[in-house]
Amino acid sequence: MNNIVKERQNEWLPKIEAELDRYTANCGSMHGILLEAMRYSLLDAGKRIRPILALEFCRAAGGNPEDAMPFACGVEMIHTYSLIHDDLPCMDDDDLRRGKPSCHIKFGEANALLAGDALQPLAFETMLSGSKIRPDLTLKAANTLAHACGAAGMVGGQMIDLENEGRHVGLDELRIMDSGKTGAIIKAACVMGVIAAGGSDEMISIAEKYAENVGIAFQITDDILDVTSTAEVLGKPVDSDVGNDKSTYVSLMGLEAARKEAERHTAIAVDAIACLGERAEFLAGFAKMLTNRIK
Ligand code: IPE
Ligand code: IPE
Ligand code: MG
Ligand code: MG
Ligand code: MG
Repeated sequence: MNNIVKERQNEWLPKIEAELDRYTANCGSMHGILLEAMRYSLLDAGKRIRPILALEFCRAAGGNPEDAMPFACGVEMIHTYSLIHDDLPCMDDDDLRRGKPSCHIKFGEANALLAGDALQPLAFETMLSGSKIRPDLTLKAANTLAHACGAAGMVGGQMIDLENEGRHVGLDELRIMDSGKTGAIIKAACVMGVIAAGGSDEMISIAEKYAENVGIAFQITDDILDVTSTAEVLGKPVDSDVGNDKSTYVSLMGLEAARKEAERHTAIAVDAIACLGERAEFLAGFAKMLTNRIK
């Protein structure tokens, strides 16, 4: 793996973990099991792709990356809530997540539902009260994430995903679904990083183009791993998509073409940030690593 990617991941992972720990420990939960379920799913697990994107886009836009930390933690809380709900029996019905029994297996369905529910407002509380940057920029970032995680983004995409079960859908529909369920939050992470740096509209456009393509490539690779990996490596069940009769890039175009499509989107993402010169090095390497990842 590209050295800078490894180095920065090693730099960020413990810091992100410590901040997520701190924000959840101090969230004032009225109920012990609720807090336990939230922390069980959030902490000590996950690749932390979205927070790293927020922190590194802040750096690439000329800011102090630490300024983006509350946004980075917020986006990871939203992502974790989406995973808890995605695994529920009424959704993908998966019993393993991040190498552990899914939240509803460990705590029961209602408690998992509530743990996901509680992580959503905590994400915004974390951003709004943790941010040390200009209040107008903090509001802009919170608004960006709010828009991305709801009907116009992640939840909308998840609805399309469920609706598409058992149906043959075309490439255009698949792109719309994936840009919602997966792309929107990845895009919000990147854009929030730029906002934390006080970056220009042009820089936000660059981040958007990069993120839209990384987002699609990320879901294609997720779909590929669902049929090529093992539960031990992935930390979540394999063959979940076939089992649920999902429409994915793999079911639509086959493995080889799906791989090429992920590489094509990754190349567009890398191209989108080339204008940043040296400041693009990590983000370019990270996009490539995500497409070649094994988990
Ligand atoms: C899994 O996301 C869900 C998708 C959007 C494909 P990740 O692969 O980033 O999961 P974690 O956070 O590392 O567990
Ligand atoms: C889910 O996509 C995206 C989310 C919004 C959580 P998947 O259903 O493919 O994600 P995994 O494979 O369960 O992680
Ligand atoms: Mg799903
Ligand atoms: Mg799933
Ligand atoms: Mg999947």
